[in-house]
Amino acid sequence: MPANLTLPLFGDATQSSREQLGQHAWLLRGFALAQADELLTAIARIRAQSPFRQMRTPGGFTMSVALNNCGALGWTSDASGYRYTPRDPLTGQAWPPMPLPLLSLAAQAAEAAGFPGFIPDACLLNRYPPGSRLSLHQDRNERDFSAPIVSVSLGMGAVFLFGGHARNDKAARIPLLHGDVAVWGGEDRLRYHGILPLKDQPHPATGSLRYNLTFRKAG
Ligand code: SIN
Ligand code: FE2
Repeated sequence: MPANLTLPLFGDATQSSREQLGQHAWLLRGFALAQADELLTAIARIRAQSPFRQMRTPGGFTMSVALNNCGALGWTSDASGYRYTPRDPLTGQAWPPMPLPLLSLAAQAAEAAGFPGFIPDACLLNRYPPGSRLSLHQDRNERDFSAPIVSVSLGMGAVFLFGGHARNDKAARIPLLHGDVAVWGGEDRLRYHGILPLKDQPHPATGSLRYNLTFRKAG
């Protein structure tokens, strides 16, 4: 049985390790564990400036995951489509700046996965309550696909779907735990991915919530 199927869906990875998910896609187990408290404090500060909100999709659905952003550009969705904006449409203000610990963690994780020199200008914050999910999608609103996506998981565990280049390609099911970092770029940059509906397995650091930080070079 592959090692990742033996991991529980709660608790933390007990040691750091690397699992290859594709030619240029890696799961860095526990890579953010040492900084997790600092990251959660940064999220609390961001939330005080720009609140988490459930966005509407262009198709008229309300997303079950609550979103937020920090950095020069933030990803938003509404009736007119998906895009990056320099301002939070809810507050009219610039998105909160990307805290240095987040920026450097993202750069270090990218480098560890074979993408040196990654300087993200956008960080999407996803907040998942029990039962919420993110359906299969590609990250394709960024201008330049040569930069990777760096994705940090905090709090409750989740099952990550990592598919292929077509929506119907079979997707691997990968448990993501508190402190895990996934990086995908190069030929894997546009692979479909998503999150299965979350089970309520409270985590000591976040209670019944999962946070995910996705760093991108958007502009
Ligand atoms: C995303 O694709 O934006 C988030 C993935 C995750 O929550 O792990
Ligand atoms: Fe995504």
